[in-house]
Amino acid sequence: MKTNVLIGLLADGQVHSGESLASCLGISRTAVWKQIKRASERGFSIETIRGKGYRLITPVDLLSADTILASLDASRRQQVELRVLDEVDSTNAEIIRHRPATGARVPVCLADSQTAGRGRRGREWLSPKGKNLYISFGLTCRGGFALLDGLSLVFGVAVAEALERAGLGGVRLKWPNDIVVEGSKLAGILVELQGELQEGVVQVVAGIGLNVHMTEATGVDQAWTSLTKTKPDVDWQRNRLAAELIESVLAVTERFAADGFAPFRSRWQDRDLFLDQSLVTTAGDWSGVGRGIDSAGNYLIETGDGIRTVRAGEISLRVSP
Ligand code: BTN
Repeated sequence: MKTNVLIGLLADGQVHSGESLASCLGISRTAVWKQIKRASERGFSIETIRGKGYRLITPVDLLSADTILASLDASRRQQVELRVLDEVDSTNAEIIRHRPATGARVPVCLADSQTAGRGRRGREWLSPKGKNLYISFGLTCRGGFALLDGLSLVFGVAVAEALERAGLGGVRLKWPNDIVVEGSKLAGILVELQGELQEGVVQVVAGIGLNVHMTEATGVDQAWTSLTKTKPDVDWQRNRLAAELIESVLAVTERFAADGFAPFRSRWQDRDLFLDQSLVTTAGDWSGVGRGIDSAGNYLIETGDGIRTVRAGEISLRVSP
């Protein structure tokens, strides 16, 4: 973690003397030199300027709990228990492991990288270090298991609205909750049931993976994009994006707890990627035209035999070629 502190000090791109770094880090100048070497081995490009000090050449976008908390509204800040980790298997798994039995605050976990990031349908979620956002929320919801489908769509609305506030246009939702820009997946959401506390009160973990700076990836079997790929001229900052996601998620989950899915139907449908498109099930067994969602978040498809209602998890859909 010392390397991250060092990189944080160098992040302004200015020259910092070994002496000033040593005093900030509370270590010797030799130890600073060792840290510089370690950071270089980890891929940071640091220039050594004789007699002056060190300068970070590659731009960095470090995650910082303090910066994220400072960007939140004061009332929202009180609502979360935020942890930012360097590396973890999965932020969803981390929330499940370390969730307090009770607590007024919403546990939120972010990681700079995941070694076993989980995607929907048992897929892996590619989670390279320093590139993207991997963030999970521990929620307690009244309404039993039935609310999970709606909650998973509501998270799609939260992510879309957070991205729009951050300046991204053309955000689309691919039922049930993929976030798509220019036809490629930008972010994904995984809602997992942790358990039932008492009848009707369920503990849920909801994780968001948002591609921010990633420009290369191997082994991804679907069209994907990142904020940097889609809008290379914008200075995307993960801390600001994380704060926008937290604000959005807290706001939508509060509303969902009070009023259910109904208030989100039009917010979801305004961004519906499938609307009026010819669709076919991934298995290819039937097809129809996308007609939006019902008041519970099920997808409606107009077929030759009338409207068919599809529940999330039952089936997966794609636009027919
Ligand atoms: C999908 O397949 O579309 C869902 C991807 C969800 C990935 C996020 S990253 C943060 C959280 N931790 C995980 O292990 N998965 C989710």
